[in-house]
Amino acid sequence: MEWIIKAEEFDPDKVEWNGTRFLLGNGRIGVRGTLDEYGKDQCVAVNMAGVYDQVEGKWREPVNAPNPAYTYILVDGERYSLPDREPASHQEGLDFKKGIFFRKTLFITPRGRVEISSERFCHYSYGDLICMTYHVRADFNCEIEIYTGIDNEIWDLNGPHLKNTRLYEEDGVLISANETQEKKIPVATGEKIHVDFRCERQVIQENDKILHRLTFIAEKDREYSFYKFMTVEKGPGAAERAKSAALDFYEKGYEMLYLDQVSVWGKSWDESRVEIKGNEEDETRINYCIYQLKILAPRFDKDLSVPARGLSGQTYKGAVFWDTEMFILDYFLYSDPEVAKTLIEYRIKGLKGAKIKAKEYGYEGAFYAWESQEDGFDACSDYNVTDVFSGRDMRTFFRDKQVHISAAVVFGIIKYIKATGDTTILKDGADELIIECAKFYDSLLLKKVHSDKYEIHDVIGPDEYHERVNNNLYTNLMAKMVFEEAIKLLEEGELRSRFEDDYKHIFIPTPNKDGVIPQFDGYFSLEDATLDEVRSRILNPKEYWGGAYGVASWTQVIKQADVVTALELFAQEYDRDILKANLDYYQSRTEHGSSLSACMYGLLHLQLDEVEKAYPFFEKTSTADLVQGGKQWAGNIYIGGSHPAAAGGAYQMMIYGFLGLSFEDGKISMKPRLPKDWEEVKIRLKYRGNVYEIIEEGKRGTCTKIG
Ligand code: BGC
Repeated sequence: MEWIIKAEEFDPDKVEWNGTRFLLGNGRIGVRGTLDEYGKDQCVAVNMAGVYDQVEGKWREPVNAPNPAYTYILVDGERYSLPDREPASHQEGLDFKKGIFFRKTLFITPRGRVEISSERFCHYSYGDLICMTYHVRADFNCEIEIYTGIDNEIWDLNGPHLKNTRLYEEDGVLISANETQEKKIPVATGEKIHVDFRCERQVIQENDKILHRLTFIAEKDREYSFYKFMTVEKGPGAAERAKSAALDFYEKGYEMLYLDQVSVWGKSWDESRVEIKGNEEDETRINYCIYQLKILAPRFDKDLSVPARGLSGQTYKGAVFWDTEMFILDYFLYSDPEVAKTLIEYRIKGLKGAKIKAKEYGYEGAFYAWESQEDGFDACSDYNVTDVFSGRDMRTFFRDKQVHISAAVVFGIIKYIKATGDTTILKDGADELIIECAKFYDSLLLKKVHSDKYEIHDVIGPDEYHERVNNNLYTNLMAKMVFEEAIKLLEEGELRSRFEDDYKHIFIPTPNKDGVIPQFDGYFSLEDATLDEVRSRILNPKEYWGGAYGVASWTQVIKQADVVTALELFAQEYDRDILKANLDYYQSRTEHGSSLSACMYGLLHLQLDEVEKAYPFFEKTSTADLVQGGKQWAGNIYIGGSHPAAAGGAYQMMIYGFLGLSFEDGKISMKPRLPKDWEEVKIRLKYRGNVYEIIEEGKRGTCTKIG
């Protein structure tokens, strides 16, 4: 299988996308796959998980640390670097088996050829370490100057976040010591270099950079190399630790750290890689998705979850959405249950904030943050989209009305307990959390005088284009599930009776004569325009389709799977005909404008054994970061970056869909539904403390306990 994805030439239009698809990470830091000489205009980022900052009047977002990998060269006094100089050849890419980014560039100078190459990795065993090696070779004698060090000119969407910067050298380590604006959190990067050739060395400061200058006369055809040990630290003593850790890693040496990197990644792949005989391309795709999930897993820190754009930058404020529980969690449940637990604990810790949010809106119980940052703080703004026509901020209701988030949190906990058998989290706060979420939905219920049904009004379901709707199928079904789970936890008493009553009476929209369930009250009376018609009404390519006067708002065109998501989760409660009718109806009306959409269609098709219909959705969800062209803008707001929910959706399609795995009462059962050309699929996964190897071919499968 191909473990290397790469670009074979330099294309200035792909700089931002390459940064995302060649992303490195280890759960604590994410380092975009950008070139050594790039700066903030090329979207370089060393993204720090869980460190947030707000500059007055702007959005609160995660902090990007100063970039310690910054490097460029001069040959006979002339700078040779991209994107300003045309290369004779160029290659850059990612070896995702080892978590290594590489590049090789050839420049033709007036006197001959100069080749530079480098490799970089975010160490998988040490959360604070980035390593790099850089080589230069010329086919003529020349003077070379290498500039390498820390670049403090940081790419920020809503920055600058760092102040009180001090750039200095101490004990041979370059250090950038800073503080965040809002909470004055110390943030530091350190850089220690090992140079294996003779040169004149100086440390210089230019603009916001502290750099080594290495000057030497390069002999024709000789390769000159250096190695860098770079540390990223936060919190009290960050600068001191950045220095001492850089010195420690320097002592260990590049080779040992490299071998360790390869070996920990190898072990990690042994535990979770998917093998597909018969379709190498799909094999690469699914394992690349797994890579994207592995690099954002909080393995070193507690109190963290997974941001919607991973560690690829500051999009969506580095916040945690329902994406985590509904799309991403499942991979960790069956590959790294410890990480899954951390994700759940993050929500338990956020309960306090969720209770405060519920109160703020006049509800009982726990209303989780739509865009959750540290301690569950809701970073979602009331004006979350900018109108491209007026330049004004638009009132959106994501924060106030996307009430389905609390149910997603409960759903995640239930999945966690089912997969791991670990019920200890209940007494550690999850039971309170579930009951508080049930109280929240209880306080949302409305009873009309002449009806015995309880309704939920004024919400946004998964489809964000239709705001403030009543009786969204998904929301009501999820609320019902929360009542059911809360009932299981409660002894007889007033609260339990109340939830029982809620469970019995909550209104669940029913199918029309064609078997189609309205997404919300009145959905069918909206204009039934086609997707193409709606698209043709757009006046500006960046305009937002939803909100007050979006082109989709008054039509049946929806952003993403909504009823289909509901039916995928609760399929057992509906007849096949109903499932089919809804898939058909909603498919032609879905923009798939969110990367969360495709996998839900795919999963539901697979529940119906419609493998061929499901397959294109697998292709789409598994390549969300492998093909260029995902949405980059919502109004004037940049939303580029990686798509872990789509990757998680691909994993779900693999295990629940194609392999048809179900996990009940300690037993794994299989129902293979493999695409035609997949001759055999092999996967390893963890379930209730054991490791299993599952092999399926055609309609048969074996499941063997191997550890
Ligand atoms: C989707 C949401 C999702 C968010 C973060 C939005 O575009 O509509 O469902 O949670 O992106 O991925």
